[in-house]
Amino acid sequence: MDMEERYGAHNYHPLPVVLHKGKGIYVWDVEGKKYFDFLSSYSAVNQGHCHPKIVKALKDQANVLCLTSRAFYSDALCEYEKFMHDFFGYDRVLPMNTGAEGVETALKLARRWGAVKKRIPNDKIKIICCGGNFHGRTVTVITMSDDPSSYADYGPLTPGFIRIPYNDPKALEKALKEHGKEVCAFIAEPIQGEAGVFVPDEGYLKKCYDLCKKHNVLFIADEVQTGIARTGKMLCSQHDGIRPDIVILGKALGGGVLPVSACLADDDIMLNIKPGEHGSTFGGFPLAAKVAMAALTVVKEEKLVQNAEKMGKLFRTEIKKIKSPFIVEVRGRGLLNAIVTKPIGKKTAWDICLKMRDNGLLAKPTHDDIIRFAPPLCITEAEIKKAVAIIKKTFEEMA
Ligand SMILES: Cc1ncc(COP(=O)(O)O)c(C=O)c1O
Repeated sequence: MDMEERYGAHNYHPLPVVLHKGKGIYVWDVEGKKYFDFLSSYSAVNQGHCHPKIVKALKDQANVLCLTSRAFYSDALCEYEKFMHDFFGYDRVLPMNTGAEGVETALKLARRWGAVKKRIPNDKIKIICCGGNFHGRTVTVITMSDDPSSYADYGPLTPGFIRIPYNDPKALEKALKEHGKEVCAFIAEPIQGEAGVFVPDEGYLKKCYDLCKKHNVLFIADEVQTGIARTGKMLCSQHDGIRPDIVILGKALGGGVLPVSACLADDDIMLNIKPGEHGSTFGGFPLAAKVAMAALTVVKEEKLVQNAEKMGKLFRTEIKKIKSPFIVEVRGRGLLNAIVTKPIGKKTAWDICLKMRDNGLLAKPTHDDIIRFAPPLCITEAEIKKAVAIIKKTFEEMA
C-alpha cells in the first residue's frame, strides 16, 4: 500500500486490503486471509476467479500465437466472430479491449450511421444520453457524465450530446420531438451500475426503444456491466424484451482474465465503417478471441443466467430481513444488488465496508452511501447464506 501511495498515480482509493490469490468466489490477501469477493472486479469476474477452462484457453493460445494485429488475418478471430454471431444473433462484431473503447466505438458507429444513412450534416449530429450515467473515462465518454468527479477540469469536452434524466421516457420523447432529425442515437445502461445499481421502472427500455424507432434513432445498450448473465438474463435488455440496435459488451466478456470488449450490430450499422477508419492494435487479438469464447461457453455450460436470477432473489430476500438503522433500501436485479445506507454519526458506508472486510467479505461503496453487492455468478445457495450472515453480523456490530 505504501508503494502504491508513493509510486502510483493517485487515481483510485482502494479499500485497504492487499489481494494475492483468487479462486471461484473467493480471494485471499497476502497474509492468507480468505474473503468472499462481492465486487467481482465490477462484474468482470462473473465466471469466478481463475476459472480453469478460461485459464486453459488463455494458456493454450499463449503457446501458439498471442498477437497478430489486424494487419493480418488470424484463425482465432474469424472463429470468434462467427461464435459471437451465433451466440448473440447480431450480423457482426467489432472487437475492442476496454469498456470505454467499446462505448467510443458505439458512438462512432452511431455517428457514422447518422451521417451516411440518416443524412444528418456532420456538424449537427447529436446523441442523447442519460443523467447519472457511467460509460467510462475517455474524454468523449466523460462528456456524457453529469458527475463532476468524472468531467471537471478535463475540458474542452466533446460537442454533440443532449443529456436527459434517466428513467424518464417523457424526457426522451420531448428531446426527440425537438431534435429528432439531428439525433443518431440514444445510449443508456439497462441498469445504472455505478450510479448505485439504479433499476429503472419496468418497461422503461421498451418505451425508449419504441420512441427511438418512431424517430429513426438507434438504441444503444451499454451492457458492459449488466451484460453476460449478471442480472439474470444474458443481456439485461432482454428483461424488457428488446433487441438494441447496438450492444456494447466488456468486463465479463474477458472472463476476468483479459480486457475484452465488443460492439454488436447488424450490417446496416456496422458496414458503414470501412477498412482503416477505426480499430485498435489489440482489438480481437488471438488471445482475447479464445478467452472470450471460453468465457461465454462457461456462462452457458454452468447455467450462470439461471443461477444469477435464483441466487439474486435469495440474496435480496435475505438481506431485506436485516434490521439496521443504517439501511435505507435494498435494490437490484439478478446478482447486481445494492444496499443504500445512511450515515449514523460519523459512521458511513466506507466504515461498513471496512468492517465487512474484517468479517471476511469484500464490497465497495459507490457515491459514498451505496454498497454494491455483485459476487461471481457461480455462487451457491449455501455460500449466499454464509455471506448474508457476515453482512448481518456487520450491520449488528455497527449499530
Ligand atoms: C456501464 C459501463 N460502461 C462502461 C464502463 C467502462 O469500462 P472500462 O472500465 O473497461 O473502460 C463501465 C465500467 O465500470 C461501465 O460500468
